[in-house]
Parts: sequence; C-alpha cells; structure tokens
Amino acid sequence: MRAYNFAAGPAMLPEEVLAKVQNEIFDWCGTGVSVMELGHRTKIFQELLENLQKKIRTLMNIPHNYKILFVQGGAQGQFSGIPMNLLKQNKNVDYFNTGIWSKKAIDAATKYADVNIVAESTKTGIPDVSAWKLNPKASYVYYCPNETINGIQFSQVPDVGNVTLIADMTSSILSEEIDVSKFGLIFAAAQKNLGIAGVTIVIVRDDLLNSSLDIVPNVWNYKLLSECNSSVNTVPVFALYVMDLMVDWLITQGGVSAIAKINKRKVEKLYNYIDTSEFYYNNVEKPYRSQINVPFELTQESLSVDFLDEAIANGLKYLQGHIAVGGLRASLYNAMPESGVDKLISFMHDFAAKHR
Ligand SMILES: Cc1ncc(COP(=O)(O)O)c(C=O)c1O
Repeated sequence: MRAYNFAAGPAMLPEEVLAKVQNEIFDWCGTGVSVMELGHRTKIFQELLENLQKKIRTLMNIPHNYKILFVQGGAQGQFSGIPMNLLKQNKNVDYFNTGIWSKKAIDAATKYADVNIVAESTKTGIPDVSAWKLNPKASYVYYCPNETINGIQFSQVPDVGNVTLIADMTSSILSEEIDVSKFGLIFAAAQKNLGIAGVTIVIVRDDLLNSSLDIVPNVWNYKLLSECNSSVNTVPVFALYVMDLMVDWLITQGGVSAIAKINKRKVEKLYNYIDTSEFYYNNVEKPYRSQINVPFELTQESLSVDFLDEAIANGLKYLQGHIAVGGLRASLYNAMPESGVDKLISFMHDFAAKHR
C-alpha cells in the first residue's frame, strides 16, 4: 500500500513516473540496456539532455540569453559554486539570512567573499523592505525564496535594483510561475519537484559566465558546463532520466500555471484548517508563510509522538519537522495529490477529536 509521503526531500514522486521507471528499467528506448547502464556520451542520452533543456525552457519561459546547466554536488555544492563562479571582479556580496539554508549558503560564501547581511528573519517572518541594508555595489544579492525547514517564504521577488539576483529555488522551483528575467541565476537540487537526488539545475544568464575565480573546479565551472552540454564528467544519468520524466509529467498536468492552482488550493486548505483549530498552530505571519512546506505544532506538544504514530498507521508518512527545529511539517510538492492533503486534514480532525 503506497502511503502519502509528506517528506521535505527526497520527496514523493508521481505514481505515473514510478510506473514508467519500472516499465523501462531493463530496456530504455530500445537500446537493450537500462538507462542506468547507458553511456552519458551516447547520442541518445545527449539528445535526452538537449530535449530536457528545451522542455524546461518552455515550461519556465526561460529567455534565450540564459543557459540551463545540470551539475552534481547538490544544492549545497552551489553554495560554494556560486561565489567561485561570480566573484572575479568584485568580492562584495549581499545575502538575506532567512533560515537554515540561507545561513549555510552564507557560511560557504564567507570563504570566498565579503558578505553583507541584508536582513535576517525572525521565527515568524522577514523584516520589512524599509529595514533592508542592500549594497548597490554588490556583485550579487542571494536569497532563498522558500526556506524548507523554517517554513518561511518571500511573498514576492525582492527588488534589488540593478544588482544581479540569485535564488536557491530548491524547494519552490516549478511550483508557481516566475519571471526568470528578474534573476541572474536560479538553482535547485532535484529531489523535490524535479525528481531524485544527484543532480542540480542551474539557470544562469550569459553575461555571468565570465566572472569565475581560478579556483573553481571544472565540474562546477558554468562556462565549461555550458560549452559541453553539462557533460564535463560522467553525468548522473538516472537522476537526469527521472528529471525528464518529471518534466513530461508536469507537462501532462497542464504545466506550471495549472499545478500552481492545485498547489494553492492544497496549501490554503491546510493553513485554513490549522488556523481554525485550537489543537494545532503555525506561528509564521501570514504573508511569510511557506506555500510548500507547512510546519505546525500541537498545542499539547506531548502528543506529537502519538500523532506521528497514528498518522503512519493511516498511511500518512514523514510528517516530523526537521531535526534542527522539531515540531511537525507537511511538505506539499507538485507530486502530492490534493487527496493526500484532504486525508491529512481529516486525520488531524479525528486525532484532535480523540485527544481533546
Ligand atoms: C532550500 C534548500 N536549499 C538547499 C538544500 C540542500 O540540498 P542538498 O542536500 O541537495 O545539498 C535544501 C534541501 O532540502 C533546501 O531545501
């Protein structure tokens, strides 16, 4: 019996994608070998990469002056990869510190750059724009639109003037429509809305390809990656194949605008239930609430273990919060069906009635 998987990542995959993987596992596209066994430089796999880029470009409406790269080392690899690629001319950079993932990015960048903190979030929200300390001479401004662990999200893209904007969209990519032209660089590890761990997408504007420090390793050198179809070394063929299936699945759902509507319904239902219940709460101020990862607590905290045990018995799995913050958390990525959220709310209602 498949459970509804509310994990923050690696996260739930659509059943159609899993079935396709199962169906093709011994012989991919008539090659007579599994995609896991296939050379990454074969014509057929290089074509998959090229087509995958084209599909992502269309789905996200990515302008032609941006490259789409596939790299390894996860999102955290890019915490170092970004400063190493962009700081040749000027080592002053701006970072928003809005949660655990931006803090880790700041710690990594500090090794290469002079980091100015623009603003720091509290547990309940992000300071108003009037309190931001932006440096108009910074090489770039970095932020994490959706902090997966803390459940805090920017309600809009920050206005940083003419400075290059960089976003860690690991937990938000393809969940809602965005205007890529507002960004110099977007990156996201795949294990939430783009498949499985092992590959990270980097979408980077052409004019940023010539600013790397000499120390940048070849495998993270954006210019080099852009010149060889992301194949500097052996690419993670299976993770890219699953990404391709995820992209096809999203296209059959109607694309980003269609999934965004479903995502909005899912998350509004859950917050509405939490807000009207006296048994559960979420402390984040409404404008800053994550639209994807919903942290919540029980007013009777001692019941959390029972909550998790009974949830599992009801086919609702991995609802515990991140170890760094505790509590509970429901992650509602694209592959989480609305029926999963309905079942969660119904379970929360029954649990509350039973323990009141
Ligand atoms: C927003 C965000 N950034 C970075 C990471 C780290 O990703 P990775 O484990 O691929 O380095 C995560 C993982 O959950 C994340 O949610």
